[in-house]
Amino acid sequence: MLYKGEWNPNELDYRALAGQWHVVCLSTDVGADQPKAVRLLGEELVLWRDDQGKVNAWKDYCGHRGAKLSLGCVKQGQIECPYHGWRYSSQGECTLVPAHPERKGPSSQRLIFRHFAEERYGYIWVSLEKPLRPLPELPQWHDDSFRKVFAGPYLYNANALRSLENFIDASHFPFVHANLNGLPDAPEPLKRYNVKEDEHGLHSSEICVFQPYGDHRGIPVNARYTYSVLNPTTAYFVKKTGETERFCTFFNATPVDESQCVIWLIVAINFGQDLTLEQILSRQNIVFEQDRRIVESQRPARLPLDPHAEMHVVSDRMGIEYRRWIRALGEAASTNQQSQVIESVSI
Ligand code: FES
Ligand code: FE
Repeated sequence: MLYKGEWNPNELDYRALAGQWHVVCLSTDVGADQPKAVRLLGEELVLWRDDQGKVNAWKDYCGHRGAKLSLGCVKQGQIECPYHGWRYSSQGECTLVPAHPERKGPSSQRLIFRHFAEERYGYIWVSLEKPLRPLPELPQWHDDSFRKVFAGPYLYNANALRSLENFIDASHFPFVHANLNGLPDAPEPLKRYNVKEDEHGLHSSEICVFQPYGDHRGIPVNARYTYSVLNPTTAYFVKKTGETERFCTFFNATPVDESQCVIWLIVAINFGQDLTLEQILSRQNIVFEQDRRIVESQRPARLPLDPHAEMHVVSDRMGIEYRRWIRALGEAASTNQQSQVIESVSI
């Protein structure tokens, strides 16, 4: 079921995102007793844990008089509304009306809105509609030879899809990340690369670039990137910066609404055991602040899905395929939505 947020739910980009997993916060942001408010695709949601510790993601709304459940608390594994103290089970049943404790609560079926929530990699993931794809995988998560560092969150006043496209774009390095990821006075031409699609998403072949400060050691490297888009708001790269050195980044952009997103990163590296957390984070912070300035400036705010709306060149292949893929996901979701409407009308 759809709820009207700021983002028009009939637009293709919204449709492409409504039935997909998105990181919304860290697992540790939701304690046992305290609900947490988040926004996703313009919807105000409340996250809370039941008595099994399982996270629930509901519309932040009490069906009695419309108060925000996130202002309430969790008692005995149920969420309590802050206004008149009504309690709800994780199944969405009203179990207690304190003004009439002897009576069964009214049916809350049509007035409590439950979404889909999971936890993985220290994040809480939410899908507003039934998820159409599995949770994305970070291949190095269980590999102890890789040190994992959480970076961000970075708040961008920019659309999540614009931010993701920036993450998979290799030709901006010499300009946006001058003297870090490229040389502004000697920008390298990019060699032609391929993009293939499989059930896990989109994957580029290797893209090679010289970088004067190519990884957290602060040394020049001939970097070889392989990018993947694993979900509409999740992407990943493996960057080879030496014979065996690997610098991987798992990127997630929460689509808060059409013009705001939050970037969450897990960096996985198999070198530089002596590097401090500060050294690793400082490079990440610099790079993502540099990207912010550009991505926030892009107009229109939303990623154009019409291929004629902007100019393209061969090195934009990954972005072009990403836009095509988002469009296809949006069209498939719209068709699915229409057939559900027709079915329900014909019943
Ligand atoms: Fe929630 Fe009254 S508004 S109990
Ligand atoms: Fe960048």
